[in-house]
Amino acid sequence: MPGAIYAEGLVKTFGDVRALDGVDLDVPEGTVLGLLGPNGAGKTTAVRCLTTLLRPDSGKAIVAGIDVVKNPNEVRRSIGLSGQFAAVDEYLTGRENLQMVGELYQLRSKAAKTRAGELLERFGLADAADRPTKTYSGGMRRRLDLAAALVVSPPVMFMDEPTTGLDPRNRQALWEVIQELVSGGTTLLLTTQYLEEADRLAHDICVVDHGRVIARGTSDQLKASTGGERVEVVVHEREHITAASELLSGYGKGETTVEEHTRRLTVPVTGGAKLLAEIIRELDARGIEIDDIGLRRPTLDDVFISLTGHAAEEEKVDDEEGQDAGGQGGRSRTKKSKKEAGK
Ligand SMILES: Nc1ncnc2c1ncn2[C@@H]1O[C@H](COP(=O)(O)OP(=O)(O)OP(=O)(O)O)[C@@H](O)[C@H]1O
Ligand SMILES: [Mg+2]
Repeated sequence: MPGAIYAEGLVKTFGDVRALDGVDLDVPEGTVLGLLGPNGAGKTTAVRCLTTLLRPDSGKAIVAGIDVVKNPNEVRRSIGLSGQFAAVDEYLTGRENLQMVGELYQLRSKAAKTRAGELLERFGLADAADRPTKTYSGGMRRRLDLAAALVVSPPVMFMDEPTTGLDPRNRQALWEVIQELVSGGTTLLLTTQYLEEADRLAHDICVVDHGRVIARGTSDQLKASTGGERVEVVVHEREHITAASELLSGYGKGETTVEEHTRRLTVPVTGGAKLLAEIIRELDARGIEIDDIGLRRPTLDDVFISLTGHAAEEEKVDDEEGQDAGGQGGRSRTKKSKKEAGK
């Protein structure tokens, strides 16, 4: 039986850009799927297709048991969406915006008021509640947009980069709201550039690049597939880099990488803490003084980099170029990232 969010072979093109190039998703009820991918990967397009804002060119999408293409209106009644670009009415106050959403969802006026009040409190907007939202800061708008998505607790929620632009305290607050929502049975699809967020909230993760799912699994599975542990050593003296590198290569399960300017050496290993102790003894025996040494397990960031060829927050790849090459995997490594080309 398909999950609460299900997609099969979703394709969406814009001119000659294949924003979605055959995406399959299956999110079991009551779980969180984290959709990760570099800028321009197709995350927002996927969310827009699944929430009926865009019609896919082909493929199938079923949300809350309803066919997205055939019955979009019905789907809309069963979902909540918080967008990457906040959709609040500038001239209404925060409170009025939330009440309006409540009434759109057919809450009674009193219930809509109560709910608005609760959410304003929860998202730290109580003081600004009665000001027109055009006076809100970016982070405040963001929070109002999220609050709007939570006015009613729909069975299926979509959140496109919910915590982008939020300060750490508000991000934490939102994570708590999300966890409550999900423990209440809501199914959530979330896109994010913060891999810590996916690590914390998502049961399953899909990594997309160039409109395709290039990896999926739990956070632990993805980390394991990236390759295991590494030993990292920072030697005190530049002159010791070569000797340390030779020593580490004797223990390594792969190539030792050396960063000259930071005097940092990294080598993939198996054997964990025991091996680490041995390496420390050997370094000592050879008179190689170290500033730092440690065993590192892969993070979700490492997974992301090894899959897509660049870091999640390493901004703005202009995806229109190189979009036509059809393959997967290694190809994306050659992609050049440009700093903040803007949208
Ligand atoms: N309305 C549109 N018209 C033309 N091209 C579009 C449109 N919407 C998206 N695209 C293109 O489709 C591709 C996927 O865009 P999308 O917004 O889905 O990426 P994303 O993964 O959400 O990126 P980001 O992390 O920057 O939000 C990009 O190449 C983008 O330029
Ligand atoms: Mg996006």
